[in-house]
Amino acid sequence: MLIRFKKSYEKIAMGLLSFMPTEKELKKLRCTIKEYETNENWQLYLWREDDDMLGIIGTVKQEDGVVQIQHICVTPSHRHAGIGSKMVQELRAMMPGVTVCGNEYTTSFCQKCGDTVQNM
Ligand SMILES: CC(C)(COP(=O)(O)OP(=O)(O)OC[C@H]1O[C@@H](n2cnc3c(N)ncnc32)[C@H](O)[C@@H]1OP(=O)(O)O)[C@@H](O)C(=O)NCCC(=O)NCCS
Repeated sequence: MLIRFKKSYEKIAMGLLSFMPTEKELKKLRCTIKEYETNENWQLYLWREDDDMLGIIGTVKQEDGVVQIQHICVTPSHRHAGIGSKMVQELRAMMPGVTVCGNEYTTSFCQKCGDTVQNM
């Protein structure tokens, strides 16, 4: 299930975010996590199964009614088991009436997860 990020998950969240091609540098990663902690337009969720955090998905509000998935990562040992798709689907279900789009890194995967996910 998707759970909302909180400060106590910071280390695990940074570890998961570091799988994004855009988050390979520690300095950039620190800025990114800070933005999720302080900017209300940035929202971060973790995928929890039992007590394990296996994935992460982060969005930025583009305008009213539009959010963009800017980060999505699954821990390597649990890929190809549907977690990435489930995160996108659950996110969309949490946001009825909102258009969920991808960015240049996430669009191709998001498109696999459903017709209403589009590039912007
Ligand atoms: C992308 C990612 C989140 C998918 O997570 P996952 O739990 O393995 O996803 P699912 O099991 O739901 O789906 C796997 C399918 O997505 C495909 N896929 C993986 N990355 C993809 C991408 N960037 N674009 C399109 N399809 C992609 C896989 O090839 C696989 O396809 P198949 O079922 O036909 O074999 C995971 O591969 C990951 O963490 N990658 C590193 C982080 C990253 O680069 N994120 C940005 C790209 S979205």
